[in-house]
Amino acid sequence: MKKVDVVLGLQWGDEGKGKVVDVLTPRYQVIARFQGGPNAGHSLHFEGNKYVLHTIPSGIFRPESINIIGNGVVIDPVILSDEIAKLEKDGVDVVSKLRISKKAHLILPTHRIIDAASEASKGKTKIGSTLKGIGPTYMDKTGRNGLRVGDMIAPDFADRYARLKAKHLDLLRQYDYQFDITDYEKEWMDGVNNLRRFQFIDSENEVNRLLNEDKGILAEGAQGSMLDIDFGTYPFVTSSSTLCAGVCTGLGVAPSRIGKVYGIFKAYCTRVGSGPFPTELFDEDGEKMRQIGMEFGATTGRARRCGWLDMVALRYAVMMNGVTALIMMKSDVLNSFERLKVAVAYKIGDQEVTDFPYEIDEQTVPVYKEFEGWNCNINGIRNYEQFPERLKEYIEFIEQETGVPVKIISVGPDREETILR
Ligand code: GDP
Ligand code: IMO
Ligand code: MG
Repeated sequence: MKKVDVVLGLQWGDEGKGKVVDVLTPRYQVIARFQGGPNAGHSLHFEGNKYVLHTIPSGIFRPESINIIGNGVVIDPVILSDEIAKLEKDGVDVVSKLRISKKAHLILPTHRIIDAASEASKGKTKIGSTLKGIGPTYMDKTGRNGLRVGDMIAPDFADRYARLKAKHLDLLRQYDYQFDITDYEKEWMDGVNNLRRFQFIDSENEVNRLLNEDKGILAEGAQGSMLDIDFGTYPFVTSSSTLCAGVCTGLGVAPSRIGKVYGIFKAYCTRVGSGPFPTELFDEDGEKMRQIGMEFGATTGRARRCGWLDMVALRYAVMMNGVTALIMMKSDVLNSFERLKVAVAYKIGDQEVTDFPYEIDEQTVPVYKEFEGWNCNINGIRNYEQFPERLKEYIEFIEQETGVPVKIISVGPDREETILR
């Protein structure tokens, strides 16, 4: 029986999911997003070009691939239309390759305003949201007020839109927040008109039919496990289920039809936005990671916070997702570090904990294990056997700690800079 394989991030996002999906796509006929929305920014490098995708699955460049935006995703018609326009300009036949679930929810211009007003009102306690309207859209979904892709082809779409907008304007009166959506609303309506030329599907039926036809399907996660609405560092999280469980609800597949789960992590750690990050570095090492790893957001351009690899968080994410294979990214960024550290536990007061705690604050101090760096350039290596011994030790330590094999190692942003084990 064919199953859905999954690629997802094990940290706080930006692990390199776009690159990995692009590398794995030739093995699959279908690539599907199951959660999140344009808060994501997935980068792909190949043949000298760089692309950043926000809502469209990272399989879109491969010939013959079917790309599905599942029901669990939230869509901004302006951002999606911009993405489509760029791809079409580059000759990608998006209309024939992209299918959008009728049950995916729409991000309205007023959702973005509510996001911004809510963040502004929080002051120092703000989440550091990408301000794409993600939280308010998922709130309307669970609050049973939302507009969905399928509504765009309903005869009374304009009324449905006006009713939800009026609710939002009411809500916005409680904030002292100035805004003008006139221009964005016009672009939004243009976006809606543009999207009407695409195939709107019932993704649950389509995905199960494709599985029964023996088609290989890869589900592409957005954000990361530590940003999950239930198990992430709440409230500094996103508003969707970023874990493997989200594939079932975000595409309409049964748990028994989940196959391999590829968990992606960077050889170190980054986080963008607010929230706890126990291994964060505020010194030269952190700045070095940021500069060499070019750790600036693909969606917002914000500098990413950098720190050492955190095994407490990684083991937690591996457990929650049932990861069957690990993928280590950006190993090359550590090429010139003399010594490396990995957090193996946290010290809270005089207690050492190895389970990810309910809450993390300044009293949570990482307990580090130190490693010698490999101190050489690994970007050109294409074979595991040729890796320096110290890098192999680092990888084997991670395998021991997680009980899961590291199957792919990435040594540079390009498609070709990938070692399959
Ligand atoms: P995603 O959101 O998980 O798809 O990740 P992003 O695209 O936001 O961020 C990952 C960044 O790292 C992108 O700029 C990639 O091009 C880059 N990248 C991916 N893999 C590697 C790697 O192995 N080495 C280096 N140096 N960069 C990488
Ligand atoms: P990809 O798919 C990294 C972070 C934001 C903020 C929090 C909530 O590229 O890995 P939201 O906009 O969802 O309300 O923001 O989550 N965040 C991400 N961080 N990568 C992402 O996506 C992210 N999507 C959201 O910075 O801290
Ligand atoms: Mg990203």
